[in-house]
Amino acid sequence: MSNQFFNVAVVGATGAVGQQIVRLLEERDFPIKTLKLLSSARSAGKKVLFKGSEVTVEEATPDSFADVDIALFSAGGDISKALAPHAVRHGAVCIDNTNAYRMDPDTPLIVPEVNAHRIADHKGIIANPNCSTIQMVAALKPLQDRYGIDRIIVSTYQAVSGAGNQAIEELKRQSQAVLAGEDVQPDILPVGALPIKHQIAFNAIPQIDKFQDNGYTLEEMKMVRETKKIMEDDSIKVTTTCVRIPVVYGHSESVYVELKQDADLSDVKQLLQDAPGITLVDDPSNQSYPLATEAAGQNDVFVGRVRCDLDNPRAFNMWIVSDNLLKGAAWNAVQIAEIIAAKTAVNS
Ligand SMILES: NC(=O)c1ccc[n+]([C@@H]2O[C@H](COP(=O)([O-])OP(=O)(O)OC[C@H]3O[C@@H](n4cnc5c(N)ncnc54)[C@H](OP(=O)(O)O)[C@@H]3O)[C@@H](O)[C@H]2O)c1
Repeated sequence: MSNQFFNVAVVGATGAVGQQIVRLLEERDFPIKTLKLLSSARSAGKKVLFKGSEVTVEEATPDSFADVDIALFSAGGDISKALAPHAVRHGAVCIDNTNAYRMDPDTPLIVPEVNAHRIADHKGIIANPNCSTIQMVAALKPLQDRYGIDRIIVSTYQAVSGAGNQAIEELKRQSQAVLAGEDVQPDILPVGALPIKHQIAFNAIPQIDKFQDNGYTLEEMKMVRETKKIMEDDSIKVTTTCVRIPVVYGHSESVYVELKQDADLSDVKQLLQDAPGITLVDDPSNQSYPLATEAAGQNDVFVGRVRCDLDNPRAFNMWIVSDNLLKGAAWNAVQIAEIIAAKTAVNS
């Protein structure tokens, strides 16, 4: 890879995340020589408009990656496991949105605002963290740098788009059925691959992904493990409860963070205000705080309701909201691609 323009492939281009990646590549005017849009055989042949030209979606195969410089994967972990090694073999750098490589010790797990310096460690694959983890660590990084972090207790309120396009359709379908007084037929949530389903419309489901032997769900364990890896501190204590709610776009999180030193509330707010990629929305007198409806479609992470624990001067509560398809997935991946492109352009 030595050009200033790149052959780019998007694997899962027709999905909730992939569609946002393609939109961002266009909006950011990413230096693209050729663009390949890949999916399963189901969507092969579909046309997608990119910069005024139609691109035909192709089925992803091991041979799809000849001459590809940068491949962005969001087609599920099994597809990344099957195809990313072929992309690497062809010389591509892969940016993977799935869970397949996140905890692999040879794969950097990157949130650019937190650990961009680790991108250079890659051996062909760079992992994009879980959506709920990205927005939390992006907000907590300035506090870690200034005070150190001892413990994080987080409860999430996650949008259905986190489970893909089919879950968005399920929420819309069920909501219409409930309002029409009809029976609701749950099909997808909480976990597509499990036989028992629950209604999401007008409900809250305290299960995201499969249960693990320790009683936590996989989503909860992703937040625990990935936070330590990205923040490069295994001593941070993290405990989580992840809940799916009937919101289409934007994950919200109630985060309790205990720092290693006493901290002043105004200093904590100032650090958040100055942090890259963070917008502080915190004016209770005007009922101003982050809302999923306002974060949807935005690249930033929004933080508000920042307050000190009344019994512990080292601990703070805050409300962190971000668009799970953007900073939680597509935007974080495109940010990484932009860093790789800029570095390649400088070195060529
Ligand atoms: N949604 C989020 O907020 C979010 C955030 C972070 C990470 N992720 C991860 O990103 C991945 C995709 O999520 P999503 O929400 O975009 O799901 P989605 O809306 O269901 O889209 C899945 C995409 O994968 C493609 N695909 C499925 N099977 C394939 C196969 N055998 N070969 C090639 N492509 C195949 C689909 O193509 P067809 O059109 O042909 O079916 C579609 O483009 C998941 O691993 C998810 O965990 C999602």
